Amino acid sequence: MSELTITPSGDAALVADLTRRAWHGTVDPRSSGHRLTVDDVVGLLAAGTVALVALDGSGAHARPLGSVLLEPDGTDLTLMKLAVPDERGRGVAGALIEAAVAEGRACGAGRLVLAVSQLQAGLARFYARRGFVVAPGARYRRAAPGSLPPIVMHRALRAGEPLDDPVGDAVAALGRGALVVLPTETVYGLGALASDPVAVRRVFATKGRPVDHPLIVHLAGADALDAWAVDIPGDARRLAAALWPGPLTLVLRRAPSVPLEVTGGLDTVAVRVPAHPVALAVLGLLPPGSGVAAPSANRFGRVSPTTAAAAQAELGGLLLEGDRILDGGPCAVGVESTILDLTADRPTVLRPGGCEVERIEAVLGRPVERVASGPARAPGMLAAHYAPMAGVVLTDADGLAGAVARAAAPVGVLAPPDAAAVAPGSAVRLEAPDPYDGAGLAPVLYARLREADARGLATLVVVVPEERGLGWAVADRLRRAATGSGGPGARTRSA
Ligand code: TXA
Ligand code: MG
Repeated sequence: MSELTITPSGDAALVADLTRRAWHGTVDPRSSGHRLTVDDVVGLLAAGTVALVALDGSGAHARPLGSVLLEPDGTDLTLMKLAVPDERGRGVAGALIEAAVAEGRACGAGRLVLAVSQLQAGLARFYARRGFVVAPGARYRRAAPGSLPPIVMHRALRAGEPLDDPVGDAVAALGRGALVVLPTETVYGLGALASDPVAVRRVFATKGRPVDHPLIVHLAGADALDAWAVDIPGDARRLAAALWPGPLTLVLRRAPSVPLEVTGGLDTVAVRVPAHPVALAVLGLLPPGSGVAAPSANRFGRVSPTTAAAAQAELGGLLLEGDRILDGGPCAVGVESTILDLTADRPTVLRPGGCEVERIEAVLGRPVERVASGPARAPGMLAAHYAPMAGVVLTDADGLAGAVARAAAPVGVLAPPDAAAVAPGSAVRLEAPDPYDGAGLAPVLYARLREADARGLATLVVVVPEERGLGWAVADRLRRAATGSGGPGARTRSA
């Protein structure tokens, strides 16, 4: 399966070799004396067998892209990594994409795939306006432990196909006061313009969420911080510089202009810059300093959606004409952002999430408090939350067989692939990641909880992963799912 194949010629071999070595971390094209130019890359596209273009749009090598391997599913592809200087990023990407699209169409290729480590709003807007969507499935990527997977996007290359503009349409909808379900790297959000109190009230009504439970304001970049917060501590600037865009939410003192509807009446406000090209594209098209208030796009207390289809199933019937759902593929992180309160005496994690607390501590150079807050501060921390209809029973691997034996049938199991001792036929095994750890479980956790309901299971028995890295967030959500499962209308539960 070759996505884009062109006949080799010219200098492409040199560029291909350099870029391959750069990709595998043995050479940095910026320091090798063989700096790649737009012409090199376009030439490679025109002359080589480039089917998958890996473009580091940040230019800063901020993330260890060299430790990330793209897995093109057995396809024989040339992988290319390109460092683009920040100020020229958009122009380079533009030339590259135009060339790739043109060549791809010329040779009858069906699809163009792009992988980028991190997106600036301008680049994201550029991609989204040209119809790229995030590639479904994780088959193109395998991230090294501790690194975020690259963002992978693709678009169809049918000849003469108009460039549709779902992002521009969604931005217009927000401007009219409508709601937009939009993908982020964590979970799908139900967004409204944060400066529009009427639209924000509709978010609460649509979710069935108590109005004193504050929303997170999503920003295009850290430079919008000052429009939403005051007395911003140096810690916040440092974390924003190091970890945004990304799954980290900061709680700061609220600027006077922030509607109280957004903050649930609190004098603090939660803000983050999401690392998803579609979300960044939407935010980047709004007037500078704008924010989108977006809770997870699920009804209150239920499982957060990590696909557009799951969001549609949760809220579709409650949206009005004029509201929109943007499909950005499955969420790469899969659990909500880590919420860090910077208004307390010491930085305090209110909700473990997609940004490992170890990374936060590395940036701050000191430990943070790991205190679960009271319910009024973070409703995601209510004991019962993230709950499917099936009863959720937690165990360790040794207790698995016993837990299954005691559980009300039909029983499903989410456990390490090598965890034995489940009698054949007594339980359905849901597909589990290997290795069975937080990083592997986070992207699939909510899909498995939904699957339990789709299969009509009465009980889902889950082996809790080790609470390191993302394992803390996964175990936290599992505990809350276990407490809240079997609500009204639930199937029979086990004790
Ligand atoms: O990853 C995420 O954070 C996703 C995506 C859509 O960005 N959003 C999300 O929103 O999970 P939501 O509303 O489901 O959870 C927001 C959490 C709640 O627990 C809320 O209490 C907390 O953020 N929060 C918001 N503002 C706060 C504030 N001023 N102080 C303390 N907690 C706050
Ligand atoms: Mg939520």
